Amino acid sequence: MIIGIVAISKNYAIGKDGKLPWHYSADLRFFKETTTGNAIVMGSNTWRSIGKPLPDRLNIVLSRNGDTPVHRSVMKLSSKEEVVDLSKYLNRDVFIIGGAKTYAEFAEVIDQWLVTTVPVEIENADTFMPNDFLNEFVEIESRQLDDGLTVRKYIRIG
Ligand SMILES: NC(=O)c1ccc[n+]([C@@H]2O[C@H](COP(=O)([O-])OP(=O)(O)OC[C@H]3O[C@@H](n4cnc5c(N)ncnc54)[C@H](OP(=O)(O)O)[C@@H]3O)[C@@H](O)[C@H]2O)c1
Repeated sequence: MIIGIVAISKNYAIGKDGKLPWHYSADLRFFKETTTGNAIVMGSNTWRSIGKPLPDRLNIVLSRNGDTPVHRSVMKLSSKEEVVDLSKYLNRDVFIIGGAKTYAEFAEVIDQWLVTTVPVEIENADTFMPNDFLNEFVEIESRQLDDGLTVRKYIRIG
């Protein structure tokens, strides 16, 4: 399954100055427990922001630029199609972990979304999710995390 996982503010912000505009340990814990043992796919900007491979997961970085430096344990791919093909050979979920450009590229092939709502408005954010990204999805579960966060699971209906 291909699963989008994202944390968004009340005004749909997800990033500012190349970083997450908040720090919530509860969401980082949720992200770790959910993605461990699976594959994670990130765009090159998010890769630069994280700066190192995340342990116990297959880390895949997307870039059209052959010179984008990655750690030797990281798989670098150059198209969505390569990720989709690879996902058919993995007995694991593939989590699309961002950022905005990467979510947009994968929008049509994402089967499920896991969305953490962060209870703040972010001033001067520079990276957002589109307001309609869940239009073809329906919520099937929600769970409270610490720090006033809620995670909702959505499955595709369209
Ligand atoms: N709140 C959250 O849950 C969350 C999650 C992740 C990231 N973020 C934030 O989002 C921001 C970064 O997002 P962003 O939209 O600027 O960048 P991004 O999606 O991380 O990276 C974009 C780059 O990824 C590569 N790429 C994307 N799709 C591709 C495709 N189909 N084929 C080949 N390469 C592809 C391209 O790299 P090249 O230019 O190298 O070709 C593209 O320029 C940061 O602020 C980060 O902290 C937030």
